[in-house]
Amino acid sequence: MVFMLSLLSWLIVRNVHLSAAVCQQAAALPERKKTFAIYRWNPDKPESKPTLQEYTVDLNKCGPMVLDALIKIKNEIDPTLTFRRSCREGICGSCAMNIGGVNTLACISKIDPSSTATKIYPLPHMYVVKDLVPDMSNFYRQYASIQPYLQRKDAAPAGTKQNLQSVEDRKKLDGLYECILCACCSTSCPSYWWNGDKYLGPAVLMQAYRWVIDSRDEMTKERLERLKDPFSVFRCHTILNCTKTCPKGLNPAKAISEMKQLISGTKQKPAPELTAA
Ligand code: SF4
Ligand code: SF4
Ligand code: FES
Repeated sequence: MVFMLSLLSWLIVRNVHLSAAVCQQAAALPERKKTFAIYRWNPDKPESKPTLQEYTVDLNKCGPMVLDALIKIKNEIDPTLTFRRSCREGICGSCAMNIGGVNTLACISKIDPSSTATKIYPLPHMYVVKDLVPDMSNFYRQYASIQPYLQRKDAAPAGTKQNLQSVEDRKKLDGLYECILCACCSTSCPSYWWNGDKYLGPAVLMQAYRWVIDSRDEMTKERLERLKDPFSVFRCHTILNCTKTCPKGLNPAKAISEMKQLISGTKQKPAPELTAA
């Protein structure tokens, strides 16, 4: 116990010394100024038009990512600046925004140190709640509409039966389940910009495909039937903006293309290799 306490206090003292040393080093370096031009709009002043507001930070006193700069600006310059973030490691999807013309995650986006101001906007073609915060209601409604959960016909009470899946069938979910629903892809898709009320967009369609192709799910026919109309899937014109922008390196356009083949009947979902016998 005594040893643990001494170790803890040693670590605290060491960290304080290290932080002080880092601060002293940063103070000794010449300033590396970087300007960020950030979209501002305040719903409490609806008569005011949106503006781009410039903030300058010293990169020697800032972390390497755009989210670090936003947090620094909010903490030290302007507490009214509003944006979403949570995990700070590309997992939660909440810091999705348009940085330098690209939809991406601020927390895994390195600051461009050039002298050109980096422009930061909310995700394009979305209603804005405030500053960099888009209204995701339609996106989440569409996600709910594809019923993103396992559905079986046997209706055995939960926890009474295993839903077996072979290694090969499980592999079919790779590249699909990793999606963090950040909406970078959907909001980069021209078809989604113009028909976002009826076209489901790449993020939601990739998740729809994730459940369609899951060997354990037994509602494939019903799922595909619901997507058969001219808008839900077939508004995708294979422009590929979605795949190009995905910060997780996923390929929603490929999933949509597979789904189109299943809907049109040119391809069939393979029978599961294992069943819950
Ligand atoms: S596919 Fe990529 S860009 Fe689209 S929501 Fe998922 S993680 Fe985000
Ligand atoms: S491939 Fe389809 S979903 Fe992706 S950007 Fe193009 S139209 Fe949109
Ligand atoms: S803060 Fe979670 S993905 Fe950026």
